[in-house]
Amino acid sequence: MPYFIIGTAILAVLGYLTQMYGLPPPAPKVVGIDLGTTFSSIGVYHAVTGDTEIIPDDLGKRSIPSVVAFLSNGSVLVGHRAVQQQEKNPLRTIYDVKENDPQFQADQQRYPFAVKLFDNGSAYFDVPLSDSERRIVTPEEVGGIIIRYLKSATEKAQNTPISQLVISVPAEFDEEQRNATARAADFADLETRRIISESTAAALAYGLHKKKGVEHIVVVDLGGGTLDVSVLWLQGGVFVTQAMAGNNRLGGQDFNDRVQHFLMEYIEKKYGKSVTDKEDLQQLRLAIEEAKIHLTSHLKAKITLHLKNLESFSYELTRTEFESINADLFDHVTEPIKAALEDAKITPEEVDEIVLVGGSTRIPLVRKIVGSFFGQVPNYGIDPELAVVTGASVQAGVIGGGWPLQVAAMELPSKQRKKHIYAGKKEI
Ligand SMILES: *[C@@H]1O[C@H](CO)[C@@H](O)[C@H](O)[C@H]1NC(C)=O
Ligand SMILES: *[C@@H]1O[C@H](CO)[C@@H](O)[C@H](O)[C@H]1NC(C)=O
Ligand SMILES: *[C@@H]1O[C@H](CO)[C@@H](O)[C@H](O)[C@H]1NC(C)=O
Repeated sequence: MPYFIIGTAILAVLGYLTQMYGLPPPAPKVVGIDLGTTFSSIGVYHAVTGDTEIIPDDLGKRSIPSVVAFLSNGSVLVGHRAVQQQEKNPLRTIYDVKENDPQFQADQQRYPFAVKLFDNGSAYFDVPLSDSERRIVTPEEVGGIIIRYLKSATEKAQNTPISQLVISVPAEFDEEQRNATARAADFADLETRRIISESTAAALAYGLHKKKGVEHIVVVDLGGGTLDVSVLWLQGGVFVTQAMAGNNRLGGQDFNDRVQHFLMEYIEKKYGKSVTDKEDLQQLRLAIEEAKIHLTSHLKAKITLHLKNLESFSYELTRTEFESINADLFDHVTEPIKAALEDAKITPEEVDEIVLVGGSTRIPLVRKIVGSFFGQVPNYGIDPELAVVTGASVQAGVIGGGWPLQVAAMELPSKQRKKHIYAGKKEI
């Protein structure tokens, strides 16, 4: 591998010069972006140190909600700022955007904002700015606004313009949806160097493309509302998606809803009062989310609330209780894993590496369930919410490095269709 050795030598010299003369290392030119339906983030790969860096926005957040708000005076808010004003501005705050998704308009009743269709069948948002003024916005433009926001945070942090990106998309995205994602990047004046599947990105984040003897990889992504499983086949640095399965009614929100239900019943039984006030409910929801996170590293979490007609209330939720309240939901975790393995025609024993992605894989029981299903410990050291952007940044580093840094991973297009599983009921 002479190129590799030369590359390493250049890196060593560069690292030496950097240290000796305090020369700044070259700023990465290509960024990696995870443009997710609920959260998005951006990162870069530093060639000299081999580190990936996920860039925070000016609020210090490395993962921003994929939410965009349009104000009547023409200002546009992105991320946490958009979420903060969402309740006051529901018709102009757009979230949950999927590029080129035919289901989007059909799901209109789930959203407070207006989703309509152009004559050619593609969806757009009809945003009322004032009584007389509207703004027509396409999903690509919304994606572009989020990308531009992330890009500008990176340009500020590095004091250097960015012109190219590697962007990740859900594995099941077809060519048209991938093209739509590239058009979103166009809106942010970024050239798309490569589009990679989220599952491939997660595998890259753990360096599995460089690991010897790895052939079959399973990526389990359990987020706020969906569970996605991909089976990847890795051969000579090339990733191919062999099978995909998912349950889009299973995730962190469902666990929270169960706990909320449980606590509301408890309060009703103990005090004979029901929690109905909007602010009380919001307080309850936030406290539950906090408790759930606390329970990922502790065995108990204290939930303290100051409800309007009840003064202060507190409850100590144990991890065991959290697990039993959600027991049947956790049982569903292995269903798409089984379906995907079946599709890929491999057994759990044949799987070489398992990668966990998505915030809900922080729940110890989820890691345990997946681990015992495969009989091996899954990869989970990287922040599961940042694994995808980390992998996209590694790929960006390979493309933007200018010298052969490492084995460049490739991804071949997949013809596989995703199997959808809803709470035990199989739909294809
Ligand atoms: C629009 O209104 C927001 C909030 O009221 C304010 O922060 C922003 O500066 C205004 N933008 C312009 C262009 O006036
Ligand atoms: C459909 O029409 C709209 C508005 O003319 C355009 O912006 C969009 O790109 C078109 N979509 C496709 C898939 O051609
Ligand atoms: C996607 O874009 C490529 C390159 O611009 C083009 O060749 C291809 O036909 C497009 N595919 C679809 C389905 O729109």
